[in-house]
Amino acid sequence: MGSAAQLTKVKILGEETIFISHGLFLGQVAVDLLQNVKADKAAATKFALVTDTNLAPTYLPAFERSFADAKARIGDPASKDELFSYQIPPGESSKSRDTVGAIHDWLAQNKCQRDTIVIALGGGVVGDMVGFAAATYMRGVPVVQIPTTLLSMVDSSIGGKTAIDTPYGKNLVGAFWQPKRVYIDLKFLQTLPRREVINGMAEVIKTAAIWDAAEFAALEANADQVLAYLSTDRVASEPDAEIAAILKRIVLGSARIKADVVSQDEKEGGLRNLLNFGHSIGHAMEAILAPQILHGECVAIGMVKEAELSRYLGILPPAAVARIVKCLGSYGLPVSLNDKVVRRRSANRKLPVDELISIMAVDKKNAGGKKRIVLLSAIGTCYEPKATAVIDRDIRVILSPAVQVHPRAPVPNSVTCTPPGSKSISNRALVLAALGAGKCRITNLLHSDDTQVMLSALTQLGAASFAWEDNGRVLVVDGKGGAMKACSEHLYLGNAGTASRFLTTVAALAHPSDVKSTTLTGNARMKERPIGPLVESLRSNGIDVTFKERPGSLPVQVAANGGFAGGEINLAATISSQFVSSLLMCAPYAKSPVTLRLVGGKPVSQAYINMTITMMATFGVHVQRSTKEPNTYHIPAQSYKNPAEYEVESDASSATYPLAIAAITGKTCTIPNIGASSLQGDARFAVDVLRPMGCRVEQSERSTTVTGPAPGTLMPLASIDMEPMTDAFLTACVLAAVASPGGVTKITGIANQRVKECDRITAMSSQLAKFGVKCHEHDDGIDVLGKGLGIQAPTSGIFCWDDHRVAMSFSVLALVAPGPVTIEEKECTAKTWPGWWDAMSQEFQVELEGIEPAAPLTNGTNAVPRNDKSVFLTGMRGAGKTTAGHWAGLALGWPFVDLDQELERVHNEKVDVMVRTHGWEEFRRRETALLKQVMKEKSNGHVFACGGGVVEVEENRQALINHKNNGGIVLWIHRSTRNIVDYLNIDKTRPAYVDDIEGVYNRRKPWYDLVSNYIFYGTNVEFYGSKTAMETAEREKFATLLRSVSLRTPHSFERINKKQRSFFVSLTLPLVDQEAAPMIRDACSGSDVVELRVDLLKDPNEKAPGLPGIDFVIEQTSLLRAAINIPILFTLRTVSQGGKFPDKAVEEAKALYHTAFRLGCEFVDLEMSWPEDVLTELSESKGTSRILASHHSWIGMSWSDGSWMTYYNRALQFGDVIKLVGTARDSEENDALEGFRRWANKANPSTPLIAINMGTLGQLSRIRNPVLTPVSHPALPFKAAPGQLSAREIRQAMTLIGETQAKQFLIFGSPVGHSRSPALHNTLFADVGLPHSYSAHDTANAADLRDIIRRPEFGGASVTIPLKLDVIPLLDGLSSSAKILRAVNTIVPTDGQLIGHNTDWKGITTALKQFGAPAAEHSASALVVGGGGTSRAAIYALHMMEFTPIYMVGRNAQKLQSVADDFPVEYNIKVLSSVDEIKKIGVSPMAAVGTIPADLPIDEKLKGLLKTALSLKAPEKTDDAEGGEIRTRVLLEMAYKPRVTELMDLATEAGWTSVPGLEALTAQGVEQFALWTGIVPDYAAARAAVLGEQQ
Ligand SMILES: NC(=O)c1ccc[n+]([C@@H]2O[C@H](COP(=O)([O-])OP(=O)(O)OC[C@H]3O[C@@H](n4cnc5c(N)ncnc54)[C@H](O)[C@@H]3O)[C@@H](O)[C@H]2O)c1
Ligand SMILES: [Zn+2]
Repeated sequence: MGSAAQLTKVKILGEETIFISHGLFLGQVAVDLLQNVKADKAAATKFALVTDTNLAPTYLPAFERSFADAKARIGDPASKDELFSYQIPPGESSKSRDTVGAIHDWLAQNKCQRDTIVIALGGGVVGDMVGFAAATYMRGVPVVQIPTTLLSMVDSSIGGKTAIDTPYGKNLVGAFWQPKRVYIDLKFLQTLPRREVINGMAEVIKTAAIWDAAEFAALEANADQVLAYLSTDRVASEPDAEIAAILKRIVLGSARIKADVVSQDEKEGGLRNLLNFGHSIGHAMEAILAPQILHGECVAIGMVKEAELSRYLGILPPAAVARIVKCLGSYGLPVSLNDKVVRRRSANRKLPVDELISIMAVDKKNAGGKKRIVLLSAIGTCYEPKATAVIDRDIRVILSPAVQVHPRAPVPNSVTCTPPGSKSISNRALVLAALGAGKCRITNLLHSDDTQVMLSALTQLGAASFAWEDNGRVLVVDGKGGAMKACSEHLYLGNAGTASRFLTTVAALAHPSDVKSTTLTGNARMKERPIGPLVESLRSNGIDVTFKERPGSLPVQVAANGGFAGGEINLAATISSQFVSSLLMCAPYAKSPVTLRLVGGKPVSQAYINMTITMMATFGVHVQRSTKEPNTYHIPAQSYKNPAEYEVESDASSATYPLAIAAITGKTCTIPNIGASSLQGDARFAVDVLRPMGCRVEQSERSTTVTGPAPGTLMPLASIDMEPMTDAFLTACVLAAVASPGGVTKITGIANQRVKECDRITAMSSQLAKFGVKCHEHDDGIDVLGKGLGIQAPTSGIFCWDDHRVAMSFSVLALVAPGPVTIEEKECTAKTWPGWWDAMSQEFQVELEGIEPAAPLTNGTNAVPRNDKSVFLTGMRGAGKTTAGHWAGLALGWPFVDLDQELERVHNEKVDVMVRTHGWEEFRRRETALLKQVMKEKSNGHVFACGGGVVEVEENRQALINHKNNGGIVLWIHRSTRNIVDYLNIDKTRPAYVDDIEGVYNRRKPWYDLVSNYIFYGTNVEFYGSKTAMETAEREKFATLLRSVSLRTPHSFERINKKQRSFFVSLTLPLVDQEAAPMIRDACSGSDVVELRVDLLKDPNEKAPGLPGIDFVIEQTSLLRAAINIPILFTLRTVSQGGKFPDKAVEEAKALYHTAFRLGCEFVDLEMSWPEDVLTELSESKGTSRILASHHSWIGMSWSDGSWMTYYNRALQFGDVIKLVGTARDSEENDALEGFRRWANKANPSTPLIAINMGTLGQLSRIRNPVLTPVSHPALPFKAAPGQLSAREIRQAMTLIGETQAKQFLIFGSPVGHSRSPALHNTLFADVGLPHSYSAHDTANAADLRDIIRRPEFGGASVTIPLKLDVIPLLDGLSSSAKILRAVNTIVPTDGQLIGHNTDWKGITTALKQFGAPAAEHSASALVVGGGGTSRAAIYALHMMEFTPIYMVGRNAQKLQSVADDFPVEYNIKVLSSVDEIKKIGVSPMAAVGTIPADLPIDEKLKGLLKTALSLKAPEKTDDAEGGEIRTRVLLEMAYKPRVTELMDLATEAGWTSVPGLEALTAQGVEQFALWTGIVPDYAAARAAVLGEQQ
């Protein structure tokens, strides 16, 4: 073990009390304690060791043995000494008063005196808490710290700060109590979880950052090794000597510095503040994000923010910030709150800037009302020897996602500004200097991911050594003159395109080492970028290059040839000039001089080729351009000679912004390192754009100075081709916007800007519009209409599409806006100029303010994005695609196109004829062409049904897959094989199948599965009993799926979340079938969601017990949806979690979960015991499903000691809802659970928690659980879990414990004596277990209601004739339907207000649907009889059911017309007043509603009209293979008495189904009940009560 095992002692406060080594704990600690730490050698001493339950099993027994051994060795003086121990639960919750109290009591019980030595064995939690217990027990007993986490080794154990947390703050109560010893044993790190080690690294990096630049550089260098080590099995084997030494250096380095600082300032007078770097902001974040995000992780992000603050204040150079970010990142620490893992682990918790700032106000460092923050001036150096006062405004800018730019800044008359180095030049300079011989000091190098990748790769190849000087301002490259070695480690290039192209050739120059080739790879995006032509050229020149994955892209394996042959090389340079530059730069090292010939057409980006050639000359190699041949270059064979200094020119695109500031404000700005000799295209911006606009431009070879004209006097540019400087067009646009009013600037040549970070042309025109500036877009350009200084201040922020150039250009325009301008996503400038806002604020003196927009913008608007991509239906013929297509068209309001019919139309030939005359091949070809065409031309807003055979063609499959991958919906219309086969055997209108039908089906099935992202599975008529019932239910089922996956309706989760109580019923059935359906409906009454326990289903063909097949599950889920249309929770409960699904069947489980997502199950239960990668994969592909992350425990885990935290934290990462189910051993566990629930609901209000205890003792927790409580139902065969209650039982219990108060409900109107409503509602209240009562109140005077409805016990009311209008003035508001119907039939108290609703229309739709009316498809009409108050409800209802037109007949046509006129035109209402008029309609309406009084005979004339209307010919079903069936027409009578009316008789005679009014009454009553209680009751019970047939 060499040096790591050697004991090192560190001095603190004048004494060497910190011991560090590997193996110390079981080696020297016991002896040292007994011989040196104990005060009185003669007296018997008690050693009281406290540790946590994580550590005790691993470490305590061995230590007890080593203590006993030591005693034996020392002999007599130690023989009476005792070691005893105490264990606490792990985790921050143990840093509490309760735990300290328990330890005090334990010490007292053990008769511990002043001389007792307390030992804290553990991480910071144990150390802090035990330290505090020791500091306070008997006014202080000695303490020894044995830190076991990296964080505690380098930080918390050293320095004597001890503390506990209180509800009012972390570490709020504590003491300074120096330990007698700190034993740091590096061996503990072997068992410390990876995330905890990384967590500790944050403090290590912090310590180096404030104090020791060399230490920091060492950390940078060791990151890869440390991370690699953490991925090994550390427990199994000891670390090798090298890594052991690195770890020791890391710990020792930090511990020394901390000891040093503490020694100079023990009680934190100032210097010790410095250790708080990153903590001011980090702590504030931790206060919100703990415990999901660890201390070190928050501090890492805090350090980045505080470093950015230092940079913003002009104290820290940008390069230093970049190094800090890079270093933290390279140890796997998060560097931004937007970090994906941080977002996931914290369940997207919001961190409002105001809240962060207010938390920062309670920092012990603050003084005099000002916040104090540790600022750095360099890596390893702090700005002051203490924290520095910083104003809130500056902190706010750093923390805010958006920035507000204030106009009329006092911009200095003359500013010199050096933008960051050019990326292209930086990359070339690195390659050239590395290939060259000798030292080259490069300045103004761009610090970016791209250059970082280049540096690392060149280092890996041994091409050069690199060192930073002057705080990162200078990079010293020591080039090895082309001597490189192939390396076994892959060169990982991320998405750095330039690096990949340059390095592919560089790798060929390497010499073989222990490996003979080098592999270059990158991220997924990189693996799509082309490199083929370059590789071709290299191959042709004798280099062996292999594509490892996809031909033409990385990863590539390049043979180490020590150079290539040279001579003539041809290269296709039409894709990228980087191929050319790559060969050019390496060509001098070829074995003979190279002639490079660019072939295949005009090379792209000649400017970049010239840049390379010019830079090569600076490094001593002169390329000759051939005078005889076009695009041909001669490169001599020689080495580069490095210049001593090389300054990277600033990025010319970036330079356009400071120059534009001068132009727009009339001031002067100089860019000191870009001039006429610049190699960059955008360098021409000053001369070609600014000068003609009226600026004074002075340019030397190496610098540019621009002075703007008086503000508002810039001139427009009649026409400018910006092809040579496309990136600068955005800057030109904002200047053109303030050019003289009316002047148009026409910019062309910028077509490529439509496919950058965003479509920049559209972006500019949409955002300039916010300033009142008009633009015209062209394919390759934009016209901007100048407004001078007459531009407006935008009323909303500037949306940047995360595009740095959009953000920077609008920040320039903001300087002359009439009011402040908010730039959203300010951090996007980091891509090329992280310090842009700093420069704005410091150099240009612009006033900036941090802003947090209320809601993050998406695509520039706040609306929830609906999915408007076209829908494609696929599946076998006979599965019902055409019918589904019509439904889809109606549900989405889009045209529906059957592609088979469209094909027939286009070619004017029937499909079967087409196949017969031209053959299958030609038919398929035409089909493919049509599919491609509609995908291109009608990619939005259409529904298409594809022919069953489209999936036979690979090209079509790919097209459908692309559509789905781009966010479109491809819906597989699926049904049982038998159904399809039956259908196809009947249908003769389509070409016969060549193979047997089942064979075809089995071949296509996997393809349908492959191309689709959602499945609709049709249920047969046998299940429903009648065709009418089937069509109605299937259409609903389909619409539910489609609306939800196309994001038309809000997810049911949102509605459920708003309810005070919600339930899901667990179906414990073996089979969902026709027989079970009524029981299922019964069991679901009163629940919000139904849980399908898939593991309990009995698949007759199951592969293993509890393991149903996919097809079976698809069918069962669909049958459940057919039985009852409420949200489904799809659950696979594994054996170990109390179910039947095999624990090991991971792959099968994954397939089933994916199926659930594709079936559109609203909720899917995911057990947190599945492997993490499975959870990640599933949660990323959940589609519109919400995940219920669950964990069940039978071992009686406690809710109070943090045991559940691991599961909770995991669930928070993957779940939209969390479900934790424990076991109650005693009733106190229910109280503990409530404490946990309170904590969780406060900490993560947007992720609802279902927390319950199983067993009879746990029933109270079920009664108290507010959201989605799992319930049973008496109708079900057995309960899903012990102690499960029914929803009714829970509600009854809530009444008993006083959480529900009995309310009074009434019906107002006259006469109401015979109303069936009291029977209905009282039955339902009893049925669901609510204590309310409902009674009749007969009155015709609205004034009588005034007081009653304001009484506290008033629960709600029904309102009937004659009060439906009179009641309105008494209420506080109306629902949308009540507003349209201008009548109220229901009063609902909502949030302290009385809201009027109208459920009459709902009663009509429900009754009509139940009797089959909506089976009417597209373009069916309906009829309303009468023009009274109820007719309005009827019209509204029929419109909601998508009937059109809606006809009206009645006695008085004029009165009908006035009702009709009152509705919007799209209701398409037509009043029919004569028999002739009616006859002209031709086709019968499919639904009718009678609203005329039934106590008198029908007027003769009206009767004549009715007879005609009702006997119009009903349409036949045509798209059904059986054909010829008359469709069901339904008339609903709204009068209740007599039970069968004259109108109903007329309808029945004409072949209609007549429905009595009590059906509608039931339906609207059920709706009322749901409005009052939030409960959907049992419909059958309601119906029975209304009809007087009480069950
Ligand atoms: N006093 C100070 O100056 C100071 C400084 C920094 C942090 N702190 C405090 O330290 C606490 C955080 O300490 P921490 O990060 O060490 O966390 P911790 O003490 O909670 O330990 C982290 C986890 O690792 C486990 N563990 C510890 N050592 C292990 C090992 N060798 N092998 C396997 N598992 C092991 C623990 O049981 C625990 O579950 C916070 O309360 C913080 O306020 C104090
Ligand atoms: Zn810390």
